[in-house]
Amino acid sequence: MHYFSYANEVLRGEEVDLRDIAESVGTPCYVYSHRTLLQHAHVLDAAWGEREHLTCYSVKACSNIAILRLFAQMGLGADIVSGGELYRALLAGFPPDKIVYSGVGKTNEEMRAALRAGIFCFNVESEAELVELNRVAQREHRRARISLRINPEIDPKTHPKTATGLKTAKFGVPHSRAVETYRRASELEWLEVIGIDAHIGSPIMSVQPFVDAAKRLVDLVGHIRAQGIDLKWIDIGGGLGITYDVEDPPTPKEWATAVGDVLNDAGLGIITEPGRSIVGNAAVLLTKVLYLKRNEDKNFVVVDAAMNDLIRPSFYDSFHRIQPVVQRGTEPFVADVVGPVCESGDFLARNRSIPRPEQGDILAVMSAGAYGFAMSSTYNSRRRAAEVMVKGDTWQVVRDRETCEDLVRGERFFTL
Ligand code: LLP
Repeated sequence: MHYFSYANEVLRGEEVDLRDIAESVGTPCYVYSHRTLLQHAHVLDAAWGEREHLTCYSVKACSNIAILRLFAQMGLGADIVSGGELYRALLAGFPPDKIVYSGVGKTNEEMRAALRAGIFCFNVESEAELVELNRVAQREHRRARISLRINPEIDPKTHPKTATGLKTAKFGVPHSRAVETYRRASELEWLEVIGIDAHIGSPIMSVQPFVDAAKRLVDLVGHIRAQGIDLKWIDIGGGLGITYDVEDPPTPKEWATAVGDVLNDAGLGIITEPGRSIVGNAAVLLTKVLYLKRNEDKNFVVVDAAMNDLIRPSFYDSFHRIQPVVQRGTEPFVADVVGPVCESGDFLARNRSIPRPEQGDILAVMSAGAYGFAMSSTYNSRRRAAEVMVKGDTWQVVRDRETCEDLVRGERFFTL
């Protein structure tokens, strides 16, 4: 669900007419709904009820500091994957002891910064990383709390590029080496083993893969405890799907109930790392129709947003609804909606049936909150889009559109 809907044939974000934003701020432009963000964050967190839990918003999904601050103020934690995300999370006000840090390639410098900040837990992904983290922790004279990320070898039935829990994936410690790696971790003086972790992929459209992964982890916890190593937390990652088109993902409550049943009385607090399920449907990308053109037997709607603004259709063949901001007739019209970037792969939709637009119309690309702006780039020296937050009948720019000066910041003429 979300708070973007038509009133008198005009699409609004909460109570704001999206034409006003397009006109004042220009396009392309991301628009986030404050109410949708809060509601989704609340539902994801409340799904766990009385069970001891920590919901760590996955910063990578959408990392604008205005959005991070909302979640920090609600009491959520943060799931980070880089020193840059650590910086953002701290700036936005997440308490360090609610930050978990995942990723296969943490550098020394990143480990040091996270240790100094006093984060809650490192999700360690290999034995080599354990050794390195122990070394850094020793140098810093600070113990590092850790979970091991285990690859549970579960098929999440999603896009191959975003399936992370398959046997062939680069992520986590192989299931078969888990107990041995825990033993190794427990011998390292500057590490404190507190939990077990998995993230199997995204987006996932049924509870079964989560249940299967949780079972594998709970089973391992038994073996690990038998070695005298106590674990207090289980982190099941993120990955809960959302509706882009006609998908019917489990509700957060169904997800939490199914996973909760597996955890039952294992004596583990639960950590989750939701990203998409909180922000995915909380934003639209506004774009203007530049030209209509027809080649051979195909229609093209050329818009001013491109793959650099929203790469998901090009990269994963993802579906995003495209709706006119001002409703038009229903004359059937099938077109590719494409951007100005010089690649045939630059499209927002292919062979899509949409109401025939006119030059100058504003279109809304729906469900653009997760991995939208966050994956945008300046390819073709296109300035990254502005970001706006609407709240009730008010709105505010939360990131300026980049300038040409921004594009060349840090570049130097070669003078030798
Ligand atoms: N935790 C870890 C360790 C992750 O790698 C991810 C996402 C999440 C949590 C959050 O997953 P979510 O709840 O958002 O599904 N760019 C792709 C998605 C990549 C997901 C990367 N990891 C897309 O646009 O679909």
